[in-house]
Amino acid sequence: MTVLITGASSGIGESLAIKYAEAGEDLVLAARSIERLNQQKAELSQKYGVQVAVFESDLSQEGSAQKLYQQITEKGFKIHTLINNAGVGLFGEFHKTELAKEEAMIQLNITSLTALTKLFGKDMIQRKKGRILNVASVAAYFPGPLMAVYYASKAYVKSFSLALSNEWKDFGVQVSVLCPGPTSTGFKDAAELDDSKLFQKKIMSAEEVANEAFEQFHKGKEEIIPGAMNRIQTRFGSLVSSKTAAAIVRKTQERV
Ligand SMILES: NC(=O)c1ccc[n+]([C@@H]2O[C@H](COP(=O)([O-])OP(=O)(O)OC[C@H]3O[C@@H](n4cnc5c(N)ncnc54)[C@H](OP(=O)(O)O)[C@@H]3O)[C@@H](O)[C@H]2O)c1
Repeated sequence: MTVLITGASSGIGESLAIKYAEAGEDLVLAARSIERLNQQKAELSQKYGVQVAVFESDLSQEGSAQKLYQQITEKGFKIHTLINNAGVGLFGEFHKTELAKEEAMIQLNITSLTALTKLFGKDMIQRKKGRILNVASVAAYFPGPLMAVYYASKAYVKSFSLALSNEWKDFGVQVSVLCPGPTSTGFKDAAELDDSKLFQKKIMSAEEVANEAFEQFHKGKEEIIPGAMNRIQTRFGSLVSSKTAAAIVRKTQERV
């Protein structure tokens, strides 16, 4: 039995891989940066004595989730925990951003996550046992001017995961959603968020997010928001109108 983590080459995914290795779990790690994954494989197997397999996969490509599932199952791995962590953002006014980037983001953040959940989830249902953690964001709770497609993609991940949590609890499969706030990882650069106000304040580290996520996930919590401030913000979001929430998000995201 093995834990599969997508987007394990950096940030929150890498920190979760360390947490699972510390707990003695064998790992399957996937991302595009195969050299980095091979490095992690060597480090984690040496330090923690766990088996680590790595797969190069660009999950923004059509059909990539199905290909990854096939490669993993053909090698005989039985995934008992799936962490759909790989994801990207994109900053900018929607009429100015590139549609191709947004389509790739939707493929990665939504389509591949959905396909991997179905493929591995069906195997878990057959075994009557399994866990899935889908990584959304506090963005899932708000409309997100200047990152409209990213926020909408994470709202999908949250809604999808909570619906499945209800459907699959009868089959012994836990589905949880992780909603981090701004976190110090490679995400900011990849999303072109460098001078956004959102990332100017003190934010959580990937290790802090992974620690809280790991603990809450294994306690069976279905909706996990790491960090007290992030929990307060999402509560506040439900108290104001969507129009007000969008205006506040826009202000907090504007470039400094
Ligand atoms: N950092 C934040 O502020 C924040 C806040 C809320 C939610 N999140 C979510 O947390 C998750 C992890 O992000 P992070 O913050 O840890 O950022 P990160 O350090 O940039 O990590 C992103 C991971 O996703 C992988 N990835 C990116 N594009 C991919 C693709 N096309 N195919 C396969 N893998 C791909 C990256 O690996 P390769 O480049 O090697 O492919 C990397 O391992 C994402 O879903 C993100 O939306 C982040």
